[in-house]
Amino acid sequence: MTPEQKPKLRSALWFDNPGNPGMTALYLERYLNFGLTREELQSGKPIIGIAQTGSDLSPCNRHHIELAKRVADGIRAAGGVPLEFPVHPIQETGKRPTAALDRNLAYLGLVEVLFGYPVDGVVLTTGCDKTTPAMIMGAATVDLPAIVLSGGPMLDGHFEGELVGSGTVVWEARRRLAAGTIAYDKFIDMVAGSAPSVGHCNTMGTASSMNAMAEALGMSLPGCAAIPGPYRERAQISYETGRRIVEMVHEDLRPSKILTRDAFENAIVCASAIGASTNCPPHIIAIARHIGVELDINDWDRIGYDIPLLVNMMPAGKYLGEAYYRAGGLPAVIGELMRHGKIRETALTVSGRTIGEENRGKRGIDADVIRDYANPLAERAGFAVLTGNLFHSAIMKTSVISREFRDRFMSEPGDPDAFEGRAIVFEGPEDYHGRINDPSLNIDADCILVIRNCGPIGYPGSAEVVNMLPPDALVQKGVNQLPCIGDGRQSGTSGSPSILNASPESAIGGGLALLKTGDRIRVDLKDRSANILIDEAELSARRAALTLPELVNQTPWQEIHRRFTGQLETGAVLEQAVAYQRIAERFGVP
Ligand code: FES
Ligand code: MG
Repeated sequence: MTPEQKPKLRSALWFDNPGNPGMTALYLERYLNFGLTREELQSGKPIIGIAQTGSDLSPCNRHHIELAKRVADGIRAAGGVPLEFPVHPIQETGKRPTAALDRNLAYLGLVEVLFGYPVDGVVLTTGCDKTTPAMIMGAATVDLPAIVLSGGPMLDGHFEGELVGSGTVVWEARRRLAAGTIAYDKFIDMVAGSAPSVGHCNTMGTASSMNAMAEALGMSLPGCAAIPGPYRERAQISYETGRRIVEMVHEDLRPSKILTRDAFENAIVCASAIGASTNCPPHIIAIARHIGVELDINDWDRIGYDIPLLVNMMPAGKYLGEAYYRAGGLPAVIGELMRHGKIRETALTVSGRTIGEENRGKRGIDADVIRDYANPLAERAGFAVLTGNLFHSAIMKTSVISREFRDRFMSEPGDPDAFEGRAIVFEGPEDYHGRINDPSLNIDADCILVIRNCGPIGYPGSAEVVNMLPPDALVQKGVNQLPCIGDGRQSGTSGSPSILNASPESAIGGGLALLKTGDRIRVDLKDRSANILIDEAELSARRAALTLPELVNQTPWQEIHRRFTGQLETGAVLEQAVAYQRIAERFGVP
């Protein structure tokens, strides 16, 4: 095809529209004012957006400011024109009340940018937890050619000769602080030791998990997710990503061709094998809903539960990101899963080749870091999806159930999959911190800690608070964990087998709202149930007497979010946004 025969690019509507010379001149002139030439903008070169999630406010993604230069080099080398633009910052550790409130806001912002500006394709820079789903959700709604560039994890952290991992170190350091074995200064130094370089969390927390999900979905170049942020390979794949997006525009390779049901099933299987964060189900379901693929919370149990844990990385295992990358990263995991028939191999990736073609024959080179299927770190490592009178659904990451937890709580003869306990109910994180050490609660090893009002509407955004430490007195006696249940989330870096993401949440009248301190709760993993052990008449009476908490909005967005956002089990998306699909094609792409 000669250039004249090529179909016109979407950006020509702005920059080269002979039918409307007045508007073309207006659109063109301001993009020339920093040195772009008319030739660049009118020669039919794809205009490639670089969605920049890095900034001083978002340190996990900050090195994307540097990486974007290599992306731009790649775009130019392949005959495109790069235009970088900012994304609303999302920093997991910096945003109050919680970064979860901002995922849908960044999503909305990206949709408006991609739809309303002269962009033919986009590089999605991702890293910190919610940046990855926010970017893919936005690309899914608009459905322009899009490719994920992960920022990669930080280098492995060390403190006093120990390997210390992001987030995971906080739980351990808090335990030591509570037990009185370290002082405040050492506590801070120990936590800071986990962050030795640029990059996102170096554990298999939500960031490593969600970037792996992007790769498993086919949305990034193969091998992209695990490369540590500071490595040369990270800058090199930035260049390759820039080159590839230009080709994707010419091939019209859009997210809707990649994000198929098969791709989502691959993501679920990979999530189990890597020991992924409990934040993956809501984010992946959100992406599925925006691209229009049926996926529900029970698919995670059905497709993922039986898959073994292959990656030996904190919090489920012992290594960090560098060891994982050197051992082969996600391609080695997918290669191993393929040898056992667990991957839907014909799913297409952004490379233009299938996930099977990309990963066939890939193997780990360190059998302790990336295990063989026959010698896993844990059998059946997926999420168990529970139901009962406490909630319609909640998930439990069974791969992190420790020996201690199993022996203490799941050792009933003949019923090793169940545990029962006395509920201690907290009304949110402030209440938990205020009362956990109150001796009048009589918390002992027979108790189940429950936290409510922490869901997407209650908190708002949904707080990462369900993994609660037992009272100091119990920790000092060696009880490091109690079973926890809540309608919030927990950090992906936590190794706690909490029952979380309970939907519907307490603040809108879910079953947790009916619970009282002192009630007995029974959880049975075999039949996937979790119930308050009181009769239906008493439950009905409590339901009739229930008054919902008054929710205070501190910002306009909190009010808008509360009005339009759904529950975690359905992705906590802006429900009205789901109807807007493939909008670039439906509205005005030539
Ligand atoms: Fe940003 Fe973990 S806090 S990646
Ligand atoms: Mg988190």
